[in-house]
Amino acid sequence: MLSPVSGNKDSARAMAAKPEMSILFVCLGNICRSPLAEGVAAAALARNGLAGRVALDSAGTGGWHVGSPPDPRSVAVATRHGIDITAQAARRLTADDFERFDLLLGMDASNVAALRAAAPPGDDARVHLFLDYALGRPHDVPDPYFGGADGFGAVYRTIQEASEALAVRLAARLESPPSSGQASSTM
Ligand code: 4NP
Repeated sequence: MLSPVSGNKDSARAMAAKPEMSILFVCLGNICRSPLAEGVAAAALARNGLAGRVALDSAGTGGWHVGSPPDPRSVAVATRHGIDITAQAARRLTADDFERFDLLLGMDASNVAALRAAAPPGDDARVHLFLDYALGRPHDVPDPYFGGADGFGAVYRTIQEASEALAVRLAARLESPPSSGQASSTM
């Protein structure tokens, strides 16, 4: 599902505008971390005035859960924080994603390695580790799938902190775009 961020405080102009950039969140199964990141980041971007300006999506490097809704534990933690991720459906990363997205953010180092391996040769500059890109911390968002509900709470808090930092960074960047000649792909 690729959709512009929707929010409640931005103008009709912003809502009608074509998104100026696009971000794909990537994990292994696309049912736990990356759908949560998509929903949490959408809320953070809207809070930071970027509703309608950044398109978000998520995908998995594995295909086991294609077509499934997010894991009920991700849905529950999102719902507790006022975020609805129930309309999402898992999909697998495709070669096209490297054309379609300005930024591809892996949740952990193995996701980043899989993204780099799948990227067209010499074209992996848009691939980053999410927490490194957002917070300057080269850490994983740990995979909570085989653990308990606690893990999902911790994952939510980490994703929330990173999403807020990402939104602040993108708001600054979109208000003062890089001068011509600077690659936007590595924003
Ligand atoms: P995710 O978590 O990558 O955050 O969606 C997982 C979901 C499913 C599996 C592994 C991790 N699995 O092995 O099916």
